[in-house]
Amino acid sequence: MTTPFYRLPYEQRRDRLATTRHLTGAQLAIVARQRQSADEELIENYLTTYGLPEGVAVNLRVDGRSVAVPMVTEEPSVIAAASNGGRLLTSDRGITTTVARRELMGQIVCQHVRQPAVLKAWVQAHQAAILKVADAAHPTLLTHGGGARSIRVRVLPDDWVSIDLFIDVGEAMGANLVNTLTEAVADYLRPQIDGEVLMSILSNYATHSLVTARCAVPVDPLKTATLAGATVAERICAASDFAQVDPYRAATHNKGIMNGIDAVVLAMGNDWRAVESGAHAYASRHGQYRGLSRWWLDGAILHGELTLPLALGFVGGATRVFPLVAVNQQIAQVTSARELMRVTAALGLAQNVAALRALVTEGIQRGHMHLQLKSLALSVGATPAEVPAVVARLQERQPTTAQAQAALRAVRQANLTNKG
Ligand code: MEV
Repeated sequence: MTTPFYRLPYEQRRDRLATTRHLTGAQLAIVARQRQSADEELIENYLTTYGLPEGVAVNLRVDGRSVAVPMVTEEPSVIAAASNGGRLLTSDRGITTTVARRELMGQIVCQHVRQPAVLKAWVQAHQAAILKVADAAHPTLLTHGGGARSIRVRVLPDDWVSIDLFIDVGEAMGANLVNTLTEAVADYLRPQIDGEVLMSILSNYATHSLVTARCAVPVDPLKTATLAGATVAERICAASDFAQVDPYRAATHNKGIMNGIDAVVLAMGNDWRAVESGAHAYASRHGQYRGLSRWWLDGAILHGELTLPLALGFVGGATRVFPLVAVNQQIAQVTSARELMRVTAALGLAQNVAALRALVTEGIQRGHMHLQLKSLALSVGATPAEVPAVVARLQERQPTTAQAQAALRAVRQANLTNKG
């Protein structure tokens, strides 16, 4: 019997892949170069480490403070757009933010409940005892100022009941913590449930961790070479209105916002899938998927607002594992989960205004083109030193890979000739 893949030592796993997938020596050299021993225990079947570039968005003013925001992204134009948006939204205090509370929710899902109203009444009457049971499952949470805060029962169609436990997890990311408390509460409640507990798990629809970023800026700085600031602002508002009525556009509108938010979430060692799923659930809260941000005009002032669930953590989870997270927290000068939520939402708003302004004026491609040409040059093997010359030769609006390869050959030929 062959040993299961996950039981093999690293070298044997790699060699088995290399043999069965016919990896070349050059491919194995890439795998070896990027291998990080610190990552080997982090995941199952570790092969290598897939690096992503990190940059810093500048020009952002959040609650009166200038912030440099580390972002991890592979999309060439994202950081430039965030910095550009930050500049457009800089007036006075810049972007202001609010975080009403930061609680995570654990969900005990019960099925075949015969008398949901009775269960609901029992849970409501025993709320204090249930919260005590939850807290007892993780006593150190209390010493960090956290703890179970409230409980809610939702009676759903087809004999489903969801018992929702809201927990203040302090500065932590908190997913494991919530799961521990929720499972403890499920055990306690089981005798009272005239049905069956199907599962107990954190909900990523973090409606008790909403953050709002707002701005109010004069329209004039939005102007372009051919359009007045007021016209650009009107067009940005129209784009925002359209994202409220058309889910096809709303998805792209929100993708632009998440371009920025995910990049910060990654840089800060948080779970971007959790943030993504929560954001999109929130975008559908009225029964139709809509844009997460709104833009409107009040005279010559453009107002913007973005609200989304962002249950970010400052400690624990991957924040401990990746040393760069502490560096990034220091670059952004954030010292708490709430501050991180504020900066991240503000960056999402800046990202959004930059995208909308480009879209409703010169179109997105012109601004993107230079960065995309750089990425194309790199993709055909240009070294960083060769990139500017290759880009200069790629005059076409949509250059092909073959044209990029030809440009790289020409640059190398020219370099050889110059040296000779
Ligand atoms: C591209 O990554 C993001 C945009 O499509 C966002 C938007 O359309 O609002 C430019």
